[in-house]
Amino acid sequence: MNFADSEVVGSILAVAGYGLTETIEEADFVLINTCAIRDNAEQRVRHRVRELRALQNRRAHLRVGILGCMAERLQDRLMAEEDNLSFVCGPDAYRRLPDLLRQVREGQKAAEVELSTTETYADIEPVRLGSNGITAYISIMRGCQNYCAYCVVPYTRGRERSRDPQTIVDEARTLFEQGYREVTLLGQNVNSYRWTVDGGSTVGFPELMDRVASISPLLRVRFATSHPKDLSDELLQVMASHPNICRCIHLPVQSGSDRMLKLMNRKYTVEWYLDRVAAIRRYLPDCSITTDVIAGFSTETEEDHQATLELFRTVRYDYAYMFKYSLREGTYAWRHLADDIDDAEKTRRLNEIIALQGQIALENNRQEVGREYEVLVEGESHRSKERLFGRNSQNKVLVFDRKDAVAGTYRRVRVTDCTAATLLGELV
Ligand code: 5AD
Ligand code: SF4
Repeated sequence: MNFADSEVVGSILAVAGYGLTETIEEADFVLINTCAIRDNAEQRVRHRVRELRALQNRRAHLRVGILGCMAERLQDRLMAEEDNLSFVCGPDAYRRLPDLLRQVREGQKAAEVELSTTETYADIEPVRLGSNGITAYISIMRGCQNYCAYCVVPYTRGRERSRDPQTIVDEARTLFEQGYREVTLLGQNVNSYRWTVDGGSTVGFPELMDRVASISPLLRVRFATSHPKDLSDELLQVMASHPNICRCIHLPVQSGSDRMLKLMNRKYTVEWYLDRVAAIRRYLPDCSITTDVIAGFSTETEEDHQATLELFRTVRYDYAYMFKYSLREGTYAWRHLADDIDDAEKTRRLNEIIALQGQIALENNRQEVGREYEVLVEGESHRSKERLFGRNSQNKVLVFDRKDAVAGTYRRVRVTDCTAATLLGELV
């Protein structure tokens, strides 16, 4: 999401006459787009800001600013605490950046942190930053109002709002015409995407997917993130009817214990979640499923933790993002629930989940050996110029000998070997 936002910022600033530099040493402004979801993300940003002091000593006019969720969360406090910062700008205020930079050039400090109920940057054609020219992100909605008890996002990104579907389809079509072959539609909870057309009819996420997937069978479509409470059979049916909608669903579970899910305000039970997993497997037998999980939320017992491990054994995810619970100021949990699992215990539980998931991912990958997939070739493998990498529909990375394959095209690849993270293969 931040990556997509930075591309919007790049576009707003390009229109105002600013350009990107090749290296940080040439820059007049450094803008750091930030995440506030866990404390360690914020600490890394603070570290980066402090590191920039040395460069500012050499380049006296260099100004540093913070964009995104940390700016929204901390506002002026951030500039008071980090005295080499000149500006902060929240996620709904990027159109104000040219004005903000003008004030900063005049020697002022400036903050723009107003949230909006309507801003979607729908009319802004993002500049593609560091693009491979093959895959791109398209933001389809902003904000979130699910208020999961642990989560700061509703406070930093504001109310949920959807973007005009026509602008989304147009952006995807333009990308396709420019040679892009994969778009990922982004939102905090894409299943609640809803746009009301003049006259009152509405476009929901399944219809939006249908429209984007109909642009061309050669354009792959992915999406993230689905909230399990809202994943509908209708969406799965639309996916099943378009082979170019990728067979990969990110379905954050957060915990395998009903008691934790209730305390987290997730609005589903393990039974509901497993029913959604069964529905995915029914409509899309070859679909990969990935997740997010939090270890050590308030009052989590060993029994709750074991329930999470059990759920992982049941679902057998292809990939998981695994986190230790981090208390965030302003959230429901911060107001009402103790952060009472000590850090060593959180780490132990997290490491158990990581070890189990690593084993499952490896076992899943071993089953892939011998299978053939259509792979969208993305570029050279990091390890060797002789090898290329790409992804299959399930979003698994395949690495294979280059031969005559070219980035931006589809090739059939047979899996010959694997690690827990990568499939190795050969062109068919
Ligand atoms: N602590 C730890 N992980 C968190 N997430 C969100 N808030 C927190 C928090 N306070 C995780 C959730 C979410 C992912 C994007 O980040 O798993 O799905
Ligand atoms: Fe945070 Fe929950 Fe919204 Fe996801 S759905 S952004 S975890 S509040």
